[in-house]
Amino acid sequence: MALDLSGDRFRLKTLSSRDVLKALKRDARAGLVHAPRSLPPKYFYDEAGSRLFSEICQTRDYYLTRTELALLQRHADEIIVTARPQTCVELGAGASVKTEVLLSRLDSRSDSVAYVTIDVCEEVLVESAGRLLCTFPGLRIESLAAEYLAGIEALHGLEKPVLYVFLGSSIGNFTEQEAIELLGRVAEKMAPGDHFLLGLDRVKDRGVLERAYDDALGVTARFNLNVLKVLNARLGANFRLDGFSHLAVYDDAREQIEMYLVAGCDQEVALPAINETICLREGERILTEISRKYSRSSVQHLLSKSGLCEQAHYVPDNEYFSLVLAKPAD
Ligand code: AVI
Repeated sequence: MALDLSGDRFRLKTLSSRDVLKALKRDARAGLVHAPRSLPPKYFYDEAGSRLFSEICQTRDYYLTRTELALLQRHADEIIVTARPQTCVELGAGASVKTEVLLSRLDSRSDSVAYVTIDVCEEVLVESAGRLLCTFPGLRIESLAAEYLAGIEALHGLEKPVLYVFLGSSIGNFTEQEAIELLGRVAEKMAPGDHFLLGLDRVKDRGVLERAYDDALGVTARFNLNVLKVLNARLGANFRLDGFSHLAVYDDAREQIEMYLVAGCDQEVALPAINETICLREGERILTEISRKYSRSSVQHLLSKSGLCEQAHYVPDNEYFSLVLAKPAD
């Protein structure tokens, strides 16, 4: 859909691509040069990766999206009546498909609501802004192509009350300490009257979890392997995609899915941008993502450590997912 970038209803700010490349070089050096090897999951989301993620969300095996969407549809009115936002800030907005449910209730209440979207993928932000501006004539959109923390720091002068939104259980892609730091930073920005809507995936049967991260159509496998294309394109690396396979395992003790790329044979990979060559043995793993799963008590723990307090907690009958409305702790 065409977007009128000349109008005053849309603004886009992009974090410098030099900073992004610098961070990737630092993360590649820290995570890939020595075993155990790992890479932060934020590098999945180039344009192709973002589209593959949207495809994952539509697979039968990945229950998270439809479960959270159903919760939003059921409770959106109550959330909007409680939060009464003038501004809605979404972390990791992506295609904003789920948030449209909230925006549709907002739009009928006010003709001048601001929607601030933060995401690492600029292309997806621009595309979804085009769609939303057509759907909601009263909406103003400000998009920040940035990582979460940088995006949060860039927020100034928001019209209050603000509803912060972080859906999809993306918080689960951070370690506990990182999650507390991120949510804590949002809590510090919040004023009395602001709210935070957080989606979290719940601990459940291992089979259900592992299928969600290794779907029958192989979309998640392609999504995982796509990160090697990102490294090839941005670091001039020579990873062969057919030299690796996708693996997703649930770690009961840590209550997290772990996604790996597993080397299919001994191989040498050059990383010219950081002047390194790495040697991988057959079967060696690169950890590409953790996806933490929560119980009711670990949700409470996370909120209280982050300076937030629960106001409402919505769950479906099968308790597969939690949608939590929180406010700053007193
Ligand atoms: C973005 N994030 C919440 C997804 C998840 O479920 O952890 C990323 C994902 N990885 C594989 N499938 C989906």
